[in-house]
Amino acid sequence: MNLRLLPVLFLLAVAPAAFASKEKPVIGLSLDTLKEERWQRDRDTFVAAAQKLGATVIVQSANSDDIRQVRDVESLISRNVDVLVIVPHNGAAMTRAVKSANDAKIPVIAYDRLILNANIDYYLTFDNVKVGEAQAGYAAARLPAGRKARIVRIYGAPTDNNAKLFKQGQDNVLQPLIAAGKVEVVHEDWALDWKPENAKKIMNAAITKVGRDIDAVVVSNDGTAGGAIQALIEEGLGGKVLVTGQDADLAACQRIQRGTQAMTVYKPLKNLATLAARVAVDVAKGSKPATTATLDNGSKQVPSIFEAIIAVDKANLMSTVVADGFHAAAALK
Ligand code: BGC
Repeated sequence: MNLRLLPVLFLLAVAPAAFASKEKPVIGLSLDTLKEERWQRDRDTFVAAAQKLGATVIVQSANSDDIRQVRDVESLISRNVDVLVIVPHNGAAMTRAVKSANDAKIPVIAYDRLILNANIDYYLTFDNVKVGEAQAGYAAARLPAGRKARIVRIYGAPTDNNAKLFKQGQDNVLQPLIAAGKVEVVHEDWALDWKPENAKKIMNAAITKVGRDIDAVVVSNDGTAGGAIQALIEEGLGGKVLVTGQDADLAACQRIQRGTQAMTVYKPLKNLATLAARVAVDVAKGSKPATTATLDNGSKQVPSIFEAIIAVDKANLMSTVVADGFHAAAALK
């Protein structure tokens, strides 16, 4: 063997994939699920924005299965994508896949949900604590005065770090009221995988345990609110108990119009998806996009951006969700 070639061979073996100058980067987008309406919109907006910037996107969706999502990410790494954008099903289970991306020198952006204990490059999301504060704040302002209000709390998937942040925001509002004896949490539970049917079971269990005397159900998203409302309707309590939500799903906005759901939290997905596409393309090209915050994920302070959220009820549905083109007025009839 020609010994003078050795340094060259060595360089070829260890050099990071040299995509930094690529004009047409390839982005790997790994989604937990496409079940909820919002993720389809996230995907479509992200792909369109990335294509406009000259990138190609390979999309994988794991159907709420950790093993499958880790495999999806490993397969995107083996296809030599320039950057990974991940919505983890389980913020802790994705750590291993990020290690593989680090080894392959592929930057990783956590989208909407944080990946824990991992060397990720960016976290782009909405202000999730504010989402929880908006939900509980809305309910708290409308609870009966003069007696202890009775509320049920339905949290999201325990595997989703966001579910904990929503609860944290709700706690910020509710704990002082609970401590002051103004509010009693008569039942609470976590809805596995954010499934509406799990939320319905929690609501059924609440009614069985404490009866129909419930003032509000603080629910963390619209899908699970739909499950809880179904249980309330079956008990003849539809529209009689204040229910919160999040995502401005079409079905939830229709329920707000009809009066069976009180509020939702509108998160302008086009802002997040467009931002993420731009950051992904910039990162793939080797630049370091500016951020406005940091968040500790257990292993580092992750450069982050938190997009703003808007609390929506019947009074401002038209001036927010509809005015923004998220849903057509005609669809809400
Ligand atoms: C998202 C919510 C969504 C939920 C279930 C959360 O991480 O932030 O918008 O409703 O997951 O998919």
